[in-house]
Amino acid sequence: MDKQFEAVSAAFSRKAGVYDAFGEGHQNLTRMRRKVYDHIGGLVLPGGYLLELNAGTGLDAAEMARRGYWVHATDLSPEMVAQIERKIEAGGLHGRLAAQQCSFTDLEQVTAGPFDAIYSNSGGLNCIDDLTAVTRQLPRLLKPGGIVTWVIMPRICPWELALTFKDWRVGTRRLRPGGVLAHVEGVRFQTWYFTARQARRAFGPGFRQVKLEGLSVITPTADNKTFAANHPRLYRQLARGDDWLSRRRPFNGWGDFFILSMQAVG
Ligand SMILES: C[S@@+](CC[C@H](N)C(=O)[O-])C[C@H]1O[C@@H](n2cnc3c(N)ncnc32)[C@H](O)[C@@H]1O
Repeated sequence: MDKQFEAVSAAFSRKAGVYDAFGEGHQNLTRMRRKVYDHIGGLVLPGGYLLELNAGTGLDAAEMARRGYWVHATDLSPEMVAQIERKIEAGGLHGRLAAQQCSFTDLEQVTAGPFDAIYSNSGGLNCIDDLTAVTRQLPRLLKPGGIVTWVIMPRICPWELALTFKDWRVGTRRLRPGGVLAHVEGVRFQTWYFTARQARRAFGPGFRQVKLEGLSVITPTADNKTFAANHPRLYRQLARGDDWLSRRRPFNGWGDFFILSMQAVG
C-alpha cells in the first residue's frame, strides 16, 4: 500500500467508531443521503445487485439492502469494514449485504458480481488524483447496460465560496491546483476535487452520461450540522431552491458534491 492509502486507511479507521453518530439528527446530511438514494432508485430497480465503493460504515449499503437491493460493500479501511459487518449482524442482513476490505483501485479482488450498478458516495473518490484507476476496472464488474453512480466533491461549491469572507482558506480550498491536504483524526492525506466534466471523461467512450445533479448547491455542506436546526425556515427555503437548481446547468455540476451517473454502452 502506498503512503497515501496508508494514511487514508489509518484516518478512516480512527473515525469508524464515531462516524455514524455525526449523522444522527443531522437533517441536512439526511436530506443529502435521501437524494442519493432517490437518484440511484430512479435508475436501478429494487432487486438489483449493487457494488458499493468506499462504503464507510455501511450506512448506505444497509439502507439499500433494506430497500430491496443486494449489496456488496467494499472499503479500504479495516475498521470501516468491521462496522459494516456489525450492521449485517445487527440488521440480520446476511445474504443481502456482504462486506469486503478492498481498495477501489484493486477491484480485481472482487469476485462477486456482475452488478447492475456500482456506486460511491460522499467523496471517497476524492482521495485519488486519477479516476481512470477506478473506471478501467468497471466493465468487468458490470452487467451490459449497467449503471455507475459517483458522488464526488466538485471544485465549485457555492456554500463554501460564500464563506470566503469569513474564512478565505476554506472558501477557496477547492480551487487550489494540486488538491488539498485533509486532516482526519490527526492524520493528513491529500484530496483532489474534480469537475463533472473531468469525472465524465474518466469513463471513456464505453460509457454515456444518464444523469447529473448537484448535491447541496445552495444548502449547507455535509459537515454543517447546525444550520438547518438553527434556521429552519431559511433552510426550508434554501432546500426548495436547491431542489430546483440542482438539476439545471451549470448548477448540476456544482455543490458540496455532484451525483453523476454513467451507463455502460456497447
Ligand atoms: C467520507 S467517507 C464516506 C463513507 C461512505 N461512503 C459514506 O457515505 O458515509 C470516505 C471513505 O472512503 C474510503 N476510501 C478512501 N480511499 C479509498 C480507497 N482507495 N478504496 C476504498 N475506499 C477508500 C475511506 O476508508 C472512507 O471510509
